[in-house]
Amino acid sequence: MKRIVMAAAGLATSFALPALAEDIKVGLMLPYSGTYASLGNDIEAGFRLGLDTYGADTGVTFDILTEDTEAKPPVALGKAKKLILQDRVDVLSGIVSSGVLGAMRDLIHGSEVPLIVANAGNDEATGEACSPWITRLSFSNGQVNRPMGTWLHEQGVGKVYTLAPDYAAGRQMIDAFTASFTDAGGEIVGQQFTPFGKTQDFGPYLAKAQASGADAVYVFYAGGEAISFVKQYDSFGLKADLPLYGAGFLTSPLYVNAEGPAAEGVIAALHYVPTIENDANAAFTTAFMAETGRLPSEYSVQGYDAARALVEAVKSGATDRASLGAALRKVSFDGPRGKLSIDPVTNNLIQPIYVYETVAGDDGLTQKVLATLPASADPANGCELAPVSN
Ligand code: BEZ
Repeated sequence: MKRIVMAAAGLATSFALPALAEDIKVGLMLPYSGTYASLGNDIEAGFRLGLDTYGADTGVTFDILTEDTEAKPPVALGKAKKLILQDRVDVLSGIVSSGVLGAMRDLIHGSEVPLIVANAGNDEATGEACSPWITRLSFSNGQVNRPMGTWLHEQGVGKVYTLAPDYAAGRQMIDAFTASFTDAGGEIVGQQFTPFGKTQDFGPYLAKAQASGADAVYVFYAGGEAISFVKQYDSFGLKADLPLYGAGFLTSPLYVNAEGPAAEGVIAALHYVPTIENDANAAFTTAFMAETGRLPSEYSVQGYDAARALVEAVKSGATDRASLGAALRKVSFDGPRGKLSIDPVTNNLIQPIYVYETVAGDDGLTQKVLATLPASADPANGCELAPVSN
């Protein structure tokens, strides 16, 4: 949208000066309530820092409109319609839950509004249900969990029991882990999906895992559910005999200190931990600490990189929905996670995965990187986006 600057107040202004700057209206759709509320706040903190860091010299005003999606697809769909049709945003970003992303896919595709996904890992959004309007700056559920199946078997673990919340992310993460773990020769001796956002007592599920004959347990939980799960796993006395592994959201730096000593020794995989050593991460962690007083997490870096991608698109000359959508697909930069690029076939991010252990550090719990698993593109699963022209 052009910002028109009138010649002078009170003059007969039948003419306008040329536009001095562009405004970009950004709809930020995040959970600010419910089990993923802290994730939403962290992504927003990263997004705002990213705009401040990279967007200040663009001459563009980024107007951010926030909406609370909770983790509820129908709620999010209503908010997305408002942002697209009523507020006429130029671009959407955010989305934490895979269920929400799945529900929004057709609306985004049909209304041709670019969406920069800043969390939700739903494989289908960059697979069989991909869209040129959906670009992911976070991770896909398969991308984080697939390498862990192979790695865990290589560590000598033969039998695993799996647990996850019963919705798209839980099912896709466990499916990806299961496929690579069994391909490597491992055995899944049992699995359960717990009611999402409603399970307070994991005891009955843990009792079954304990009786299963597994060597280890592999899970996906995030946010408030991760805190409850990790604490209950420890107080059930399972950690010593049945080591706990998972997708790294389980012991995210965002809430690991709320989990406390129960999180120590848990081994998990993620696309970012704040202990990665590179210059871009040093600059990011310093700036984030100065802003918030704490270290960033995978959620904050996703917000930060989503904002940077938007700024890069704007700097390449994009001003509206169509040009932003095309420019976002071409973004690539060296960020806190290392080198990032968008897979032109699926619009998913290509990035390395880090296996880390939660250990006690000088200032509380920290993330010790055990292995860096090389970046690889997700299978396209039928997605064939037309190449972006230069
Ligand atoms: C998801 O629903 O895709 C998701 C939610 C929280 C953390 C990671 C993934």
